Amino acid sequence: MNRTELLEASSYVKRQLKETPKIGLILGSGLGVLGDEIEEPIVIPYSDIPHFPESTVAGHKGQLIAGNLEGKQVIAMQGRFHYYEGYSMEQVTFPVRVMKDLGIESIIVTNAAGGINESFNPGDLMLITDHINNMGNNPLIGKNDEELGPRFPDLSQSYDREYIRYAEECAKEIGIQIQKGVYIGNTGPTYETPAEVRMLRAFGGDAVGMSTVPEVIVSRHAGIRVLGISCISNMAAGILDQPLTHHEVMETTERVRENFLTFVKKIISTLPL
Ligand code: HPA
Repeated sequence: MNRTELLEASSYVKRQLKETPKIGLILGSGLGVLGDEIEEPIVIPYSDIPHFPESTVAGHKGQLIAGNLEGKQVIAMQGRFHYYEGYSMEQVTFPVRVMKDLGIESIIVTNAAGGINESFNPGDLMLITDHINNMGNNPLIGKNDEELGPRFPDLSQSYDREYIRYAEECAKEIGIQIQKGVYIGNTGPTYETPAEVRMLRAFGGDAVGMSTVPEVIVSRHAGIRVLGISCISNMAAGILDQPLTHHEVMETTERVRENFLTFVKKIISTLPL
């Protein structure tokens, strides 16, 4: 981690902000609409921020939006960086370091994921209880900067139990069914083979996607409390007798948009921050 680059990026963003954000939001495929709900938004395109990579996937916007959401100061990433785009793990997680430097104490990480657990349905929202890093890499490999976090971070409670309880309460209050489960992070960009999906199920995974794990690792390294939400956009390969398409992923996230928005807004209003 290059401290000079980090400080250049965060001081550029800080100069535009009026207030210190408390909650970071990483908005996954098709879920960026939450950013449009932020009041008095300050929008900062990634391309304006020194040392920020640029996002390349359709459906991912590529900007930071800071402002007020449900009475809380938030900063949202509308669009994230994926390892499969060719970015290094350090680049993928750079925005988390920046948001930490801006002052966030909590982060809500969202993604679209394939359902491995056969009791799930496309359109379900899943609270992530734990993850499996199946990416064959780790953003913390390399010299450790003790000021940013410990050499050997504990991941035994990466997904904050108290936040999961709050989120479950919120789901009850607004009357939506939610799932809970283990997220497996693969590199992508291919979807899995049916044999791989059977293997991932045997590993203990409930959902599989191509993001989130690096950002959560760095968040925990930095002492940020994490809540993770997957939108089950499709059943993983081989479960249903049909091919997977990015189109289906986007279509499902579009369909659950309202539930997703209501749910996350309720959570933000409830979190004691
Ligand atoms: N596999 C991996 N990543 C995904 C999937 C999937 O089935 N759906 C959405 N992202």
